[in-house]
Amino acid sequence: MGIALVEQKSSEKTDYSLKATLEFESLQSRGAAFLGTELAILGGAMSWVSERNLVAAISNAGGFGVIACGAMPPELLEKEIAATQALTTKPFGVNLITMHPRLDDLVQICIRAGVGHVVLAGGIPPGPALRAVKDGGAKLIAFAPALVLARRFVKTGVDALIIEGSEAGGHIGPVSLTVLAQEILPHIKDVPVFVAGGLGRGEAILGYLEMGASGAQLGTRFAATAESIAHPNFKHSFIRANARDALPSIQLDERFPVIPVRGLVNEGTKRFLANQAEVIAKFQSGELDKTAAQLSIEHFWAGALRRAVIDGDVENGSVMAGQSVGMVTAIQSVADILAELKSQAVAALVARAERR
Ligand SMILES: Cc1cc2nc3c(=O)[nH]c(=O)nc-3n(C[C@H](O)[C@H](O)[C@H](O)COP(=O)(O)O)c2cc1C
Repeated sequence: MGIALVEQKSSEKTDYSLKATLEFESLQSRGAAFLGTELAILGGAMSWVSERNLVAAISNAGGFGVIACGAMPPELLEKEIAATQALTTKPFGVNLITMHPRLDDLVQICIRAGVGHVVLAGGIPPGPALRAVKDGGAKLIAFAPALVLARRFVKTGVDALIIEGSEAGGHIGPVSLTVLAQEILPHIKDVPVFVAGGLGRGEAILGYLEMGASGAQLGTRFAATAESIAHPNFKHSFIRANARDALPSIQLDERFPVIPVRGLVNEGTKRFLANQAEVIAKFQSGELDKTAAQLSIEHFWAGALRRAVIDGDVENGSVMAGQSVGMVTAIQSVADILAELKSQAVAALVARAERR
């Protein structure tokens, strides 16, 4: 190859890479503008994991960290927000669970602290909370499990949606992201839609951006980062696990519903089955009435996520993880993961340009 040709090829490569970077920026620009970030990538709220350190690390690295309020009382949430603000000046959000008995107080805490984005999870956003978020000047993000609800949420004033497929870690719906994205993305244009569940690589995020998503939310990959306060046992169980080890909770009897939660199979998940069988037998023999039996099944996992995340008991605790856990192969920094996701997306665009 002559020098002129080599030079032309190398300048074409630089050109492709610049164009690909600009194309990626443009595809994710709506999501990034909505979040006020460099990258339209949210670190999905994870109870016990998404606290000040991880949230600030994600926001400082150009993503959007989200505090998981979980069952925290308002006073604790207030402290967690202030502590996060001490670690970052970048935007971050707070995820509140709709069935929290003090939801309205939690919303007020967020508003008073100047949190710009509130994510309402665990059900249809209740009217008073929705109005309070909006009146307080914050943006409201909700999870849309189906197109009809997505449309309804947009009409009621929700500012952005997350569609989370059943591949995700934690509490899940029944439909995969592949299907939800096809059902929802072509029809919801008025607000940004972020995709979640099973995402571990930039090429996949790129695919959804091209389908009309504004950005993506990842949980599992961030749980095992250097900045995550999760116990080393928790992180190492993620590194060891394959996608097929992250399974939804199993329900033995339709009379006794079990909330679907995806996590790593362990002694705890095995004992949960035995516990259900025992409780159902007691119900059948008349030893327990229906309510007591249901409560006993529901109580099985009380405190179990904390046991796994904080205490490191990954055999008996609840090791919530998405199918993306198979893509966790090392403890990385948050910044490395974000850079990797972006470079994978850009490389996919370069490869496409080179094929043309
Ligand atoms: C350990 C763990 C805890 C989670 N806790 C919550 C939570 O408290 N609230 C919530 O809305 N989502 C929760 N999620 C879901 C994440 O926010 C995110 O949407 C999900 O992890 C995305 O899928 P991925 O795990 O495949 O990346 C949790 C996920 C994990 C892995």
